[in-house]
Amino acid sequence: MELSVEHGSKASAPTTGSHRYFDLNGLAELSGKGTARTLYECKPFKFRHEFAANAWFSRDRILELAEALPETSVEYNLADIPVSQPVTTMPHSGLSLQETIKNIENCGSWVLLKSVEQHGDYAELLDRCLKEIGEKLGLHVDEMLAPRSFLFLTSSGGVTPFHFDPEHNFLLQIEGRKKIQIFEPFDGSIVNHRQMQDFVAGAHRNLPFDESIAERGEWFDFSAGEGVYIPFLAPHWVKNTGSVSVSFSISFETAKTKRKLSTYRRDQTDAPDTLFHEQGQG
Ligand SMILES: [Fe+2]
Repeated sequence: MELSVEHGSKASAPTTGSHRYFDLNGLAELSGKGTARTLYECKPFKFRHEFAANAWFSRDRILELAEALPETSVEYNLADIPVSQPVTTMPHSGLSLQETIKNIENCGSWVLLKSVEQHGDYAELLDRCLKEIGEKLGLHVDEMLAPRSFLFLTSSGGVTPFHFDPEHNFLLQIEGRKKIQIFEPFDGSIVNHRQMQDFVAGAHRNLPFDESIAERGEWFDFSAGEGVYIPFLAPHWVKNTGSVSVSFSISFETAKTKRKLSTYRRDQTDAPDTLFHEQGQG
């Protein structure tokens, strides 16, 4: 598939299928095998990509996209919140979605656009990214289940509270800087079995953050043109350390992640085929 990628305000010529937007060499170094058949066991790692300052992620495009998506695919709230934030007390600015996006420099907010591939242009972008990541990881696109993409717009200093996501996740920084702290998945002293069961049963992604674990996670700083792989079910939280941040994430499940999640179902005979939980890693 060919993908027309625009830089700045000017569209470039369509690229050929041989062009690569990602440098995922960090994966090969960590896995020792260069294939993401080992992704499930892989640690978080940084990588590079070519989507920084891309017109697909301009403020006008983000506003257009936000208005085109159904309301259920948009979340926004104030961003100056603690790492441990119950969803029931998420604070709001009182601004509309459009006002929030237009004033993101000054309104101290966080905006999440979910499953942006619902919009045709971004479906093509997700397909292209999946194909390239899959080639590097030794996964056929048919093995990358329930693929989705998310776009995050965050004011300076904004926080994404402590949570985890039920899929492999590639988080790309498009504009600005962030730091993320990522913890070991499957560590019962961080997230216990009951919390896992609650999540699989449909509980919100946000988790309580106990200060006793504060030194146990690995920190990554990343800026425009860089990205971080967040392992399946690895708890994490994110802080915007620069001015406005724009991030894009690509996530997918595999047969193995689905099997693992199914072990936390209380009633496995009534389990749905595809687990769908909202995501908030931006
Ligand atoms: Fe996340």
